[in-house]
Amino acid sequence: MLNPVLFLALSAVAQAHTVAWVKGMYCLGGPNLSADNANTNTAVAPLYNLTQEEWWFQHDRGCDGAPPAHGDILQLPAGGTFTVELAHNRAQTTLSYDGKYTSEWPDGKEHPEDWAGPGSPADCIQDDGAMHTNNQSMAAGTAFAISYQSDLAAVTMENLAVFTVLEQ
Ligand SMILES: *[C@@H]1O[C@H](CO)[C@@H](O)[C@H](O)[C@H]1NC(C)=O
Ligand SMILES: *[C@@H]1O[C@H](CO)[C@@H](O)[C@H](O)[C@H]1NC(C)=O
Ligand SMILES: *[C@@H]1O[C@H](CO)[C@@H](O)[C@H](O)[C@H]1NC(C)=O
Repeated sequence: MLNPVLFLALSAVAQAHTVAWVKGMYCLGGPNLSADNANTNTAVAPLYNLTQEEWWFQHDRGCDGAPPAHGDILQLPAGGTFTVELAHNRAQTTLSYDGKYTSEWPDGKEHPEDWAGPGSPADCIQDDGAMHTNNQSMAAGTAFAISYQSDLAAVTMENLAVFTVLEQ
């Protein structure tokens, strides 16, 4: 039986400093498996100006070498639901510090529902420099794809299939 390897991809991956955090992800504690880092943002840094070999599974920062801890598996029940936390840093999720730095927003702070850039609608949100969007309706979203390969090295763009997306 093949164990599906889950691949998480942000559609705005080159811009938004935001990642879906969950037990079962690679690089949850940073790239160093000997030092679980509750305050890591290694998986968050944008992928920019890299070859595919460098960006694929974030090889450039060593995340492809930092698999989840034994037993940390994200279950994806067919037709069911699963939960991840979108944040700029693991510190802003319930996976660190008992969740005391979390909020509804990726920066762990409080913001109005119509949070937007100052001045003209074309301005990006600036009080959180990592959002890189004008407002919620302009934020691209998150896409999740699955590959029925047990070996990470066998996962390719061709054998990944997007199975759900969350807009904005
Ligand atoms: C990984 O973490 C261990 C334990 O803190 C440390 O001794 C080691 O130097 C770290 N390795 C790297 C490459 O930073
Ligand atoms: C992109 O990377 C190449 C090779 O490392 C480098 O020469 C170039 O200056 C980079 N371009 C930008 C826009 O960062
Ligand atoms: C969001 O930003 C876009 C682009 O700047 C703008 O056209 C739109 O009116 C804004 N929406 C809201 C609800 O402010």
